[in-house]
This record gives sequence, C-alpha cells and structure tokens, in this order.
Amino acid sequence: MPTIIVQSRELGDELGLPELPASSDDTHAWLLFRDAAGLALRRDDGVRINAEFVQGRSAARAREASLASQPLARALGIARLQATGRQVTLVDATAGLGVDAWQAAALGADVTLLEQNPIVHALLADALARARACRDSRVQVLAQRMHLIRTDARAWLRHGSGGASVPRPQLVYLDPMYPAQRRRARSRKGIESLHALVPPGDDEGLLDAALLAASVRVVVKRPVGAPPLANTFGVNPDPVRAPNTRWDRYLAPK
Ligand SMILES: C[S@@+](CC[C@H](N)C(=O)[O-])C[C@H]1O[C@@H](n2cnc3c(N)ncnc32)[C@H](O)[C@@H]1O
Repeated sequence: MPTIIVQSRELGDELGLPELPASSDDTHAWLLFRDAAGLALRRDDGVRINAEFVQGRSAARAREASLASQPLARALGIARLQATGRQVTLVDATAGLGVDAWQAAALGADVTLLEQNPIVHALLADALARARACRDSRVQVLAQRMHLIRTDARAWLRHGSGGASVPRPQLVYLDPMYPAQRRRARSRKGIESLHALVPPGDDEGLLDAALLAASVRVVVKRPVGAPPLANTFGVNPDPVRAPNTRWDRYLAPK
C-alpha cells in the first residue's frame, strides 16, 4: 500500500482524515489534493484518480439511449420493478468511484452507496457534491437520488440500515475487489488503480449480508472466470454475461 499524503493539514481535517501526513520523504507517495476540478489523488506516476459525474464517461453514459439494454441494466432488472409503480431502491454496498451506482441512478433507482475506504469515500463525496451543484438539471436529479454512507457494508446490511421501520432495499449490488485485477493496476486510471489502496479479499460474509437485506434480488459483478461469491443460503446465481464481466443474479431468500 502506498503512503498517502494530503495537500494540507486543513484539507485532511476538512475531509475527516487528520491521520494523513502533509509531507513524506517517500518518493512513491500518492498525493490527495484539491484543485479547480475537484478532489483527486495523484499517483506517484502522475496519473490522476478521481470520481466524476459531471463530465466524462459516467456523464455521457447516463445519457445513452442504449443504457437500458446494457448488461448491468438487464442484470438489475430496474425497468421490470418500475412496472409496479413504486420507487425502486438499490443499495450499492461496494460503491468505489460510483460508476455502477451512477448507472443505476440513471436507470431510475434510488441508490444508497456504502463505501468503507475513507479516501475512496472522500473522492466519491466530492464528486457527488459537485454533481448536486451542477447546472445540468439531469445531473442534479441523478445526484439527488444517491445517498453516500461511509461504513462496512456487512455491518450496515445486517444491522445498520435503520432498523425494522425502514423498508428493505429491493436490490443490493456488490462489486468487491478481485485479486486478478491487480495485475492491471498500473495501467488503469479508474477504480482498478485503487487496488493498491483497497486490498482485495475480505468479501467473506458480504453476499450473505446482502441476501438478508435485499427484498427482491442481489447482483454481484465478477470478472469472467472468477468463482461466484460464497453464500450459506445455498442459492445459485443466474448470470448475465458480457465479454469480460459476469453479473451473478441471486433471488433474495424468502
Ligand atoms: C471494485 S470497487 C467497486 C467499483 C464500483 N462498482 C464502481 O463502479 O466504481 C470495490 C469497492 O468496494 C469497497 N468495499 C469492499 N468491501 C466493502 C465493504 N465490506 N463495505 C463497504 N465497502 C466495501 C472497496 O473499498 C472498493 O472501493
């Protein structure tokens, strides 16, 4: 894991990350900084990592007419749930940089994003704040459908989602880190370059917690060839496949 330094102590305090040092002798340290374009991490090779909804790929994707026919949309099945006339609710329990959550919001879901890593959470919170303040009303509406919480999803899904008086989410979405993606960490700018910050693994218990919380379905994103996540309910996935990715769909146990 690289050393992370923060641009200034004030920024660290403001982000609730007072433990980050403002300087280091480590020439491979990564810098968490804010500039006119928002909060970002600069890797030691100069690559900028941020979450972004106003510009770039996520913003463009939300406008694509083909969004509803893409594999993630088919796996989530939001359109079918909308036919009941109720607001579709989804918990993205491994939010990362929010790319998939943004797509779910663009498909019409009300999305609660759970992220345990403080730096990833800070990048995502910044992107959401910029999207809410954006002049484009479509972007604003999507950002207002997204609610970010810094937490370990396993605890939140089992206990912390507000108790019995709060309705269970219809959908829970999981995209845990997968070790094989680590090999590409240097060449990627997005969430995959965060593998150095967010160690893969400890997804133990995540699918069970999701199955307990969801009222309709759990969808798990996996690289092609990866084994399904383990669960103790004995439910088997029904996959939606794309060339490099598989979305394992599980019906929530009654
Ligand atoms: C592969 S990334 C998700 C990428 C995301 N789907 C996107 O579109 O940007 C996995 C993220 O899940 C987070 N994560 C993993 N386990 C978690 C847990 N138990 N609770 C909350 N967040 C978790 C990691 O910190 C990481 O940011």
